[in-house]
Amino acid sequence: MIGNTSEDILILAIESSCDETAASVVKNGRTVLSNVITSQIATHTVYGGVVPEIASREHIKAVNYVIERALAEAQVSLEDITAIGVTYGPGLVGALLVGVAEAKALAYAAKKPLVGVHHIEGHVSANFIENPDLEPPFVCLIVSGGHTHLVIVKDYGEFEIIGRTRDDAAGEAFDKVARAVGLGYPGGPKVDKAAREGNPHAMEFPRGKVDGSPYDFSFSGLKSAVLNHINHARMIGEEINVPDLAASFQNSVVESLVSRAILAAREFGYKKLAIAGGVASNTALRSAMEEACKKEGIKFYHPSPIFCTDNAAMIGAAAYYEYLKGNVSGWDLNAVPNLKLGER
Ligand code: KG4
Ligand code: ZN
Repeated sequence: MIGNTSEDILILAIESSCDETAASVVKNGRTVLSNVITSQIATHTVYGGVVPEIASREHIKAVNYVIERALAEAQVSLEDITAIGVTYGPGLVGALLVGVAEAKALAYAAKKPLVGVHHIEGHVSANFIENPDLEPPFVCLIVSGGHTHLVIVKDYGEFEIIGRTRDDAAGEAFDKVARAVGLGYPGGPKVDKAAREGNPHAMEFPRGKVDGSPYDFSFSGLKSAVLNHINHARMIGEEINVPDLAASFQNSVVESLVSRAILAAREFGYKKLAIAGGVASNTALRSAMEEACKKEGIKFYHPSPIFCTDNAAMIGAAAYYEYLKGNVSGWDLNAVPNLKLGER
């Protein structure tokens, strides 16, 4: 154990909620000693999306390997680890069970505490890794494949939800639009890339306001407008300008996200705003948020792209704060596929 002291709290974290098998060693909640991720994207691409049973089978193949590598890269052994953190929800049940069973077996054999982590709390905690000055309270926009939430992070692991999507999650909208124009899976990064060559004002798409709920999101109207545009173009034999379509769609999503996040920070009186989740790696969102925060005098926080999409370092960061609070899991810890934010 090189360079670590006996007071250091080392978390071995495991993440397997969707299509990434990941393990990481995190020191004192903020220092990442290793961050190993194996992605199943290549396996699922042929099916156009994640196939749950295949995901579980891929996790069981990869899980020991990623843990072994995470320990080796961190230059620590299992005995040096203080506690084992693991995502137990939300996510695909079979996928989650692989990580949970593995973490339990390791914790039991090595006589280490087990800390079950909420996947979304992990995404939010990714912001602590590279921002040593960031402490709650702050506003956080959570945008992943399954979630779109605007929250106030009141304390570590404590969230007040002030807005949410009424239909699709932001990442889901990216994935569906990408599929419709033939960009393939996973859609977010592909739309992001195509949009760089396009004109964001080429097509006017709706912004999806929810009447009477200024902090809620809606992406189904936007998605339908984009699909209608594609169908209409195909019907009249017109070629679709993919970069323009991607840029115009993305512009609509980004405007919806940025305007509500800034409004929340302003109205609730917070000068710190963070973003989290896979969509937080979107280049247009990051630059629009940066600019809006600057104008508003708000400090903008965002994880590096590698910590935005699924990884275990963010689970290690969240597990550290749960461990400090004494939130250790029992041997009955189970996968909870529809675990809500704020629940344990
Ligand atoms: O957080 P995440 O890795 O997994 C979930 O917890 O859902 O998010 C995955 C989502 C996918 O929908 C993916 O298309 C989207 O994040 N995503 C992006 C980008 N990178 C990933 N969306 C827009 N732009 C990106 N660069
Ligand atoms: Zn995620």
